[in-house]
Amino acid sequence: MEMNILDAIRMRKSIRGYKPDPIPKALIMDIIEAAIKAPSAVNCQPWEFFVITGEPLLKIREGAVEKFRAGENPHSEHELITWTKDSVYGARQVELAKHIFQIMGIAREDKSKRNEWMERGLRYFDAPAAILICVDKKLSESGPLLDLGAVMQNICLSALHHGLGTCIEDQGVMYPEVVRQHTGIPASKRLIIAIAIGFPDRDDVANTITSTREPVENSTKWIGFD
Ligand SMILES: Cc1cc2nc3c(=O)[nH]c(=O)nc-3n(C[C@H](O)[C@H](O)[C@H](O)COP(=O)(O)O)c2cc1C
Repeated sequence: MEMNILDAIRMRKSIRGYKPDPIPKALIMDIIEAAIKAPSAVNCQPWEFFVITGEPLLKIREGAVEKFRAGENPHSEHELITWTKDSVYGARQVELAKHIFQIMGIAREDKSKRNEWMERGLRYFDAPAAILICVDKKLSESGPLLDLGAVMQNICLSALHHGLGTCIEDQGVMYPEVVRQHTGIPASKRLIIAIAIGFPDRDDVANTITSTREPVENSTKWIGFD
């Protein structure tokens, strides 16, 4: 899909419903090849990718859902974003959740439908492939995250160029021991984030979810301008 950079940035959105069509390895290779042009501090290129499809992906899906149903708490190998109760960040999360539940027809008190939605996330929204991003534990914990953010966005934009959708997902690494069991990610690597990737299912109502942004004035101070 030919588009200029700004169009791509504006068009990218999280895709939470996929066609089952497999993604050729060569295509994901092209996407990663472009994505690693991302800048990184001292060009240290801290990213390491594990690209999963087929049987191992099915096994991870099943394992994660099984643990969730058994009541095991989802947990991450790195510190997730948190906020104080009274902050604007919690309010934004609530706004997003309300919007998603409304689109998906999930009533607030409907625990079983909420769990179903959670499971969709744990299943990488049934995408035919997932890209997991890891870093070596020799690196400091928070330092490489800036670099990973850049490569993560590049993956999403490059995928868009090829007509593929993506969803960056903490949920995809919330049962890390299951992921490790089926991928052989060594203990020396920290599992940071997952990106579900595949051709968007245009008929899936989940893909009509839209997210809002605060106006620029709310996040930007202009110094020295007129
Ligand atoms: C670090 C990170 C983690 C995320 N984790 C999840 C997730 O676990 N499940 C999910 O559905 N979306 C996840 N998202 C997607 C965000 O909800 C989404 O980017 C945000 O709502 C803005 O919407 P947009 O991507 O459609 O523009 C994550 C995004 C980021 C950057």
